[in-house]
Formats: sequence, C-alpha cells, structure tokens
Amino acid sequence: MDLQLEGKTALITGASMGIGRAIAMALAAEGVKVGIAARRSEELNKVAGEIVAAGGAQPTVLRTDLYEADAARKLAQAAQEQLGRVDILVNSAGGSRPVKWDAPSSAWEEGMTLNYTRIQELTSALLPGMVERKFGRVINLTGTNEPRWPNTAFPAKAALHMWAKSISRDLAKLGVTIHCIQPGRIMSEQIYRLHPTEEDRRAFCEREIPMGRFGEPEELANLAVFLASPRAAYMTGTVIPVDGGMYRFAY
Ligand SMILES: NC(=O)c1ccc[n+]([C@@H]2O[C@H](COP(=O)([O-])OP(=O)(O)OC[C@H]3O[C@@H](n4cnc5c(N)ncnc54)[C@H](OP(=O)(O)O)[C@@H]3O)[C@@H](O)[C@H]2O)c1
Repeated sequence: MDLQLEGKTALITGASMGIGRAIAMALAAEGVKVGIAARRSEELNKVAGEIVAAGGAQPTVLRTDLYEADAARKLAQAAQEQLGRVDILVNSAGGSRPVKWDAPSSAWEEGMTLNYTRIQELTSALLPGMVERKFGRVINLTGTNEPRWPNTAFPAKAALHMWAKSISRDLAKLGVTIHCIQPGRIMSEQIYRLHPTEEDRRAFCEREIPMGRFGEPEELANLAVFLASPRAAYMTGTVIPVDGGMYRFAY
C-alpha cells in the first residue's frame, strides 16, 4: 500500500530513544521529512545519521527540554521555520513515574507537566497551521487505563485521552485527526528502568502479556505511520493499545 506520505513533514518529540526514535525512522522511510526533538543532542545526531544511512532525507535536529516553561512554543516555532511546516506531530516525549500514594504535589505536577501540559501546548501551537492547510495528524503516546499502582504519569495520560477526544470533535471536519496510542510494554530505556533484570522481565511477560513477550518499538511504529498517513482519513479520536493482548477488558 502506498501510504501517500512522500513529501509530508513531521515533528517527533522523544525521538532520541525508544518509541519516538522508531516512529521517526519509520516516517522517514516513507519519504517524510522529520524534525526530531529531545534533550540529548548526541543521541539525536545518531538517529539523524541512521535515517540518512537508510536513505531518508536529512532530519532537522531540535534540541529541547520540555520541562522549560516556554519550551513548547519555542519548539513549535523552530520546527515550523526549519521544516517549512508541520503536517504530522508525534508526541512521544514522556515517561513513567512510579510513586507512593503520599507523593508530594510537586511530583504529581512534574508528571503532569511532561506527560500532559507540554503536549497540549505544543499541539495547540501547531494546530492552526494544520487547519489552514486542511491536513494534519497528531499522535500521542499515552498509557494504560488500568493502573496497578500509583504513577504520576497515569492522570496525565488519562487527561490526554479526554483532551484528544474532545478536540477531535472540532477538528474532524477540518482535515485534522488526533489519536492516542497506548503502549503496553515496548522495549525502551524506561522498560529497562522499570524491569531491570532478565528474571523480572520474564516473570512480567508470563504473568501479564498473553503474547508472552515485550513488543519492539518498530511494531508500534507501524500503527503510528498508518495513522499519520492520508490513508487513515476516516479515523479520529481513537485510543488504541499496542500491548500483545495485555489489556484485560475489551474496552
Ligand atoms: N515503552 C513502553 O512500554 C511505554 C509504556 C507506556 C507508555 N509509554 C509512553 O510512550 C512514550 C515513549 O516511551 P519510551 O518507552 O520510548 O520512552 P524512553 O525510551 O524513556 O524515551 C523517552 C523519550 O522522551 C524524551 N524526553 C524525556 N524527557 C524529556 C524532556 N524533559 N524534554 C524533551 N524530551 C524528553 C527522551 O529523550 P532525552 O532523554 O534525550 O530528552 C526520550 O527520547 C512516553 O510518553 C511513555 O510514557 C511507553
């Protein structure tokens, strides 16, 4: 299938590692000119080198720290200037923050800043251009609706689901779609942090994942690339798990 992505532009946050990196590489392989954002420039430069070595266009490296107050506005501006426009936004920067029930407000606020507020701000800064051009795709990497323990990322990811669905209603007639993808356990830096030993990883897979293994970032990137494409024009406002069957309920 020709995904009709050739010549589009995309900004991918969290592209130095894991899922964001895999999505950036997969979009570039489809002829998309990508802007890749994260804090670690050396890792971003490595990703850029790999994209070019695989035959993709030279990516725009956008070093950014999304904890900084004005980061979303500055990143949106830099991406639009350097890519010409942003057709596709992939919000992958984020992370799990397991805590105890009595974690201080500052911890909950930190989880919300990275996993919700900056995503909403960055998306809002890029949406007017998408609406004007009558084409836009926003893909948010979120997380589970079935919390097993407290984590400051959980309320933020839930807020993303509600926010994305609500704005999808307004954007639907304007050529702009927005989706949330819920990774189950996809191999990445944070998975090694959460499951540090081989034994722990094996036990979790046997207990929780019907397919009996963690997923690869490329397996999730396949869905993201489809949702980013004009081929997915009749889908919006969805929340889709990529989790080897880990969710226990049908919806
Ligand atoms: N992997 C999973 O199974 C899983 C499960 C549930 C949800 N998710 C969600 O999926 C997304 C991607 O996860 P992942 O597993 O690929 O994570 P990861 O391997 O830990 O990568 C996180 C990415 O976010 C960037 N990042 C973190 N803090 C940042 C900041 N302050 N400013 C700018 N960039 C920042 C990191 O780059 P730098 O460190 O270079 O800044 C990195 O590129 C996240 O939103 C995560 O919550 C993943």
